[in-house]
Amino acid sequence: MALIPTCCLHIMPETSALPTARIAPSILSADFARLGEEVRNVVAAGADWIHFDVMDNHYVPNLTIGPMVCEAIRPHVSVPIDVHLMVEPVDALIPMFARAGANVITFHPEASRHVDRSLALIREQGCQAGLVFNPATPLDWLTHVMDRVDVILLMSVNPGFGGQSFIPGTLNKLRQVRTLIDRHVQLGGQPISLEVDGGVKVDNIREIRAAGADTFVAGSAIFGKPDYHTVIQELRQQISLADQLTA
Ligand code: DX5
Ligand code: ZN
Repeated sequence: MALIPTCCLHIMPETSALPTARIAPSILSADFARLGEEVRNVVAAGADWIHFDVMDNHYVPNLTIGPMVCEAIRPHVSVPIDVHLMVEPVDALIPMFARAGANVITFHPEASRHVDRSLALIREQGCQAGLVFNPATPLDWLTHVMDRVDVILLMSVNPGFGGQSFIPGTLNKLRQVRTLIDRHVQLGGQPISLEVDGGVKVDNIREIRAAGADTFVAGSAIFGKPDYHTVIQELRQQISLADQLTA
């Protein structure tokens, strides 16, 4: 890693332009009886990733979908499938989801006995690796693994259910992580996506973007509407407004 001498740090800009935004609809709010059609429609409407919520009724008080469903939707879309593991333990499911066509796999660090090993396992399987932080989870888990993560996902609700309200304290946490990522990249580190999940809507995505997020999970905001294209356009317009104001 090329290190920049500390004497140069003071002339670096505090923040640089944010990476291009991605919209990642969460299929938790889709019609499960028509899942193939739902993912095709939302990608045709402009989705960049498909967010795939895995819940085990152990780490979170809800039960959803596993690798077989991931494998079933894989042929319907060519965009990355972003698997959010809300399970404990974590490791056994990683190779199963990689084989089922996942591209990004994120997990909650407190649900893994060996965080570094789980991150390595995800990359060994050819996927991007990420850590997920609940609203009350400290960012300290990142201290020794910044070079091992491709995605940092901040939960803006407590995990387990779609349709909850955005927790405003997430905005400060986003700003802190944006600063960490920018410093990491300035020092020669790999790019890291900053994803946010929970309660993201047309009426708050602008301030969430301004706080530094680049990847936006939205479940009920998109699948709760009859016209996916219109709502994705509205989300992108708000992101553009935030970018214009901070340019
Ligand atoms: C919550 C899930 C989210 C959820 C988001 O535990 O991780 O991905 O589907 O849904 P909305 O956007 O409705 O809050
Ligand atoms: Zn999620």
